[in-house]
Amino acid sequence: MEFMDTVIRRQSCRAFAPGQVAPEEIETILKAANAAPVSMGLYGNIHISVIQDEALIAALEEYTYRAFPDEGEHPAYQAPTLFSINCLKKEREAGAWADASAIAENMLLAAADLGLGSIYLMGIPQAVRNDAGLVGRLRAPEGFLPYVMVGVGHPAGEWEKRSFTTSRINTVFI
Ligand SMILES: Cc1cc2nc3c(=O)[nH]c(=O)nc-3n(C[C@H](O)[C@H](O)[C@H](O)COP(=O)(O)O)c2cc1C
Repeated sequence: MEFMDTVIRRQSCRAFAPGQVAPEEIETILKAANAAPVSMGLYGNIHISVIQDEALIAALEEYTYRAFPDEGEHPAYQAPTLFSINCLKKEREAGAWADASAIAENMLLAAADLGLGSIYLMGIPQAVRNDAGLVGRLRAPEGFLPYVMVGVGHPAGEWEKRSFTTSRINTVFI
């Protein structure tokens, strides 16, 4: 897919069809994650959990719904695969949030390029990072917490027809 077509096809998917993502697609999305920029090149401060265990996804959704009812009963929209981007928690967390976000965007674009639906999720990691039991089930190294999750699957609906614009974000030329 042409790069700018991929960019416009990257849109939040909140309804997934049944069926798992293929292992080669997971591999491509992980390659995109590994190609992302991270602060000072410290890739050892990052860890990714690929979650396809339905019981764990249900537990993450349930905990988040209880903590943040506004997120709805299915804050992962029943995506069949969740990637949890876990970072080493330091006192100043800004770098970790930025790292996780840069990695997530690469993954979202890779998913769009593969024709998959994807969704950037911050509500779930924000909720579940307070529960040591759930954090443990992500199997990240000691001291790591989830910062951003990315849900991926086959979209249940059609892509929204979108056009490029420069007016969504206020911009000034100086
Ligand atoms: C930092 C951040 C946090 C987000 N958290 C969530 C979330 O927890 N749940 C959700 O459904 N969407 C979440 N989103 C997706 C945004 O709502 C979505 O990207 C935005 O509304 C624009 O729509 P689009 O992705 O279709 O272009 C998040 C996006 C960002 C960048």
